[in-house]
Amino acid sequence: MRRVLITGGAGFLGANFTHYWLARHSGDRVVVFDALTYAGNRTSLAAVEANPNFRFVHGDLRNAEAVETVMGEEDIDLVVHFAAETHVDRSIDDPDAFVTTNVVGTHNLLRAARSLWHNRPARDTAPRFHHVSTDEVYGALRPEEPPFTEATAYAPSSPYAASKAAADHLVRAYHRTYGLPTTISNCSNCFGPYQYPEKLIPLVIIHLLGGRPLPLYGDGGQVRDWLHAADHCRGVALAIERGVPGQTYNLGGANERRNLETVRMLCNLVDEAFAGDPALGRRFPDAPAANRKESTSLITFVPDRPGHDRRYAVEAAKARCELGFDPGMDFNAGLRETLDWYLTNEPWWNAILDDDRYRSWIAAQYSR
Ligand code: DAU
Repeated sequence: MRRVLITGGAGFLGANFTHYWLARHSGDRVVVFDALTYAGNRTSLAAVEANPNFRFVHGDLRNAEAVETVMGEEDIDLVVHFAAETHVDRSIDDPDAFVTTNVVGTHNLLRAARSLWHNRPARDTAPRFHHVSTDEVYGALRPEEPPFTEATAYAPSSPYAASKAAADHLVRAYHRTYGLPTTISNCSNCFGPYQYPEKLIPLVIIHLLGGRPLPLYGDGGQVRDWLHAADHCRGVALAIERGVPGQTYNLGGANERRNLETVRMLCNLVDEAFAGDPALGRRFPDAPAANRKESTSLITFVPDRPGHDRRYAVEAAKARCELGFDPGMDFNAGLRETLDWYLTNEPWWNAILDDDRYRSWIAAQYSR
């Protein structure tokens, strides 16, 4: 039995991982530590709240004392660190929270793990600190360049990416200096259930259903390497179970797409879904698909993001060879499954659309 702390477990990737881990390790104690910022959503954990092995702690990583308390009272032996401010556009508008949460917060967690695990008597399960990071630390790729490997030098573009790079360096330094048993995974663009609709895929799905413009930055020619959240969970679990302390593993989907192509695929899936189910037209009367129009009619090119990275792509050969990682999800099937999830879970995202924090953010996006 392991005593697991999942930071940011009420966020997108953290919630997916919490469900994944509890479904496979039913005897483990799982504690989610989450500040419930705008992107944290306790309802994403509704299915596990009644599990006696699960505990939710409302806490902020920036509060070092709160971090030490939960680590100590739960006697944690596995930390899976998802908590972060993650949205590039927000980091451009207001970088402060990215530095305090992603850098100082990560340091608070490292320090608490070091102090708890220092001179700890041996147990069945060795302690582990797994840090979830991003391919954005590597910067942008030109069209002809090979994908990022774990040896690619860090060159972050946005304040978000710089804050994640700084956190990665701290994790490595704690391994090198203090011998903390750390692993890091750097993933490409993830999508799937429970993703806050500020990110491209859920934003496009919700705008398609509401008949609102689909904002494509610049010429829509930026390339992202998409990885389904379920594949990401498998990759993180493999890094924890088979990864070597001190090592970093890139988790990519080997699935590079231009944004315009991704948005067109979603438009087609929505058109198909409405054609196959007349009830959708009644549920979402403002969708073009409900009015015999093509969803692509909503595509709208808007001014580009400052410093926008043109292309990301991740070489996952190390994770494949050393961990057995295999991102199996077909992209179109993953998008269809994601669309189905948003269609089935309308109350989940309607509550976000009704939240003043979302309303003011989206209003600001469109007033630029
Ligand atoms: O690569 C991993 C990263 O992927 C994560 O570390 C970040 O936390 C996550 O936000 C994501 O970063 P991106 O900036 O690539 O994701 P986002 O969904 O914001 O945008 C995906 C692409 O779509 C990007 O090229 C910007 C573009 N875009 C995005 C939005 C929200 C648009 O064209 N229009 C939009 O409205």
